[in-house]
Amino acid sequence: MITPRVEEILACPDCSASVTDDTLPEDDRLICEHCGREFPVIRHIPRFAGSHENYAQNFGTQWQTFRTVQIDRLAGHGLSRDRLLADTGWAPEWMRGKLILDAGCGAGRFADVMAECGADVVACDLSSAVEACRETSLDPTNAHPDRGAVTVIQADLTALPFKPESFDAIHCAGVIQHTHDPDLVMRSMVRYLKPGGRIFYNFYEASADSDWQLIKRLLRLWTPSWSFSRLYAFARALCAIFFLPSLLMAKVPMVRAFNRFLPICSVHPQGIPLGMQYRMTLLDTIDWYGPVYEIRQNHLRVAALLKAEGLKEVRSDPGRAWGVR
Ligand SMILES: C[S@@+](CC[C@H](N)C(=O)[O-])C[C@H]1O[C@@H](n2cnc3c(N)ncnc32)[C@H](O)[C@@H]1O
Ligand SMILES: [Zn+2]
Repeated sequence: MITPRVEEILACPDCSASVTDDTLPEDDRLICEHCGREFPVIRHIPRFAGSHENYAQNFGTQWQTFRTVQIDRLAGHGLSRDRLLADTGWAPEWMRGKLILDAGCGAGRFADVMAECGADVVACDLSSAVEACRETSLDPTNAHPDRGAVTVIQADLTALPFKPESFDAIHCAGVIQHTHDPDLVMRSMVRYLKPGGRIFYNFYEASADSDWQLIKRLLRLWTPSWSFSRLYAFARALCAIFFLPSLLMAKVPMVRAFNRFLPICSVHPQGIPLGMQYRMTLLDTIDWYGPVYEIRQNHLRVAALLKAEGLKEVRSDPGRAWGVR
């Protein structure tokens, strides 16, 4: 379902003209008023890009397989909310009533938190992760009565279907390093911010820490070209061997640091049941080995890029950058 608020900001990614809804029950599509290009609306999701045969295909299956693990209100934890608030610095009161783009939404953990805070959210992803995100947005379990609307669209961040200056904020976490051209992606999103709008990027930092992940880097020479089923079986085998050692190591302060040498992305947050920790570790391990691209960023360079795009109040620290238009 496209809300009227989102319908108003939609534009053709080719020529930027308005798109109109040509809604016949059996033939749902959007049509560009200028160039006539048609965009199908399948299962209520407008498709400005197809998910087949693109580099994000494995992400789609990953997020559909692990749809609820990171969704706070469905999994019964608050990890995504804690992280969103700590990362962005956006207060829940500030988000209420705002229109926010979650760029590269995956299964929609952060889109869901922002909607729970009362924001209207456009959740956008290139892959079939949009199916998972939409299913979650329709699930009323533990939903706040003043929850905002989530509109899910499938589109490429370098060819977004919006009018310029549409959003109060853009949130983009864990995405840019997994694209073929992170600079292009970062630059192309700035124009969709309203004057005074806020942007937040979270990314893999190019650091000494990542240099230590030798086994991961070696295995990634092959794993990104694997099918999802092979990747899944591989990650399950790794987790069967290394999850328990990583759990024990995480309990010992002096030893904890050595977890980074293990070939799994071990996740052991406080107060989370063991089975859930295992699912999170399995998901994050697939997220290590599956992506076709892993182009790490230097946060000072990201900040310089955002300044060059004319943003104000630009700040960055390892793995994160903020700016205001
Ligand atoms: C690691 S996931 C992060 C998902 C979500 N932001 C989160 O933090 O849970 C990266 C997501 O970026 C999406 N993605 C990659 N390249 C993209 C592009 N060019 N346009 C839109 N989405 C893209 C992938 O499909 C994937 O769902
Ligand atoms: Zn057009």
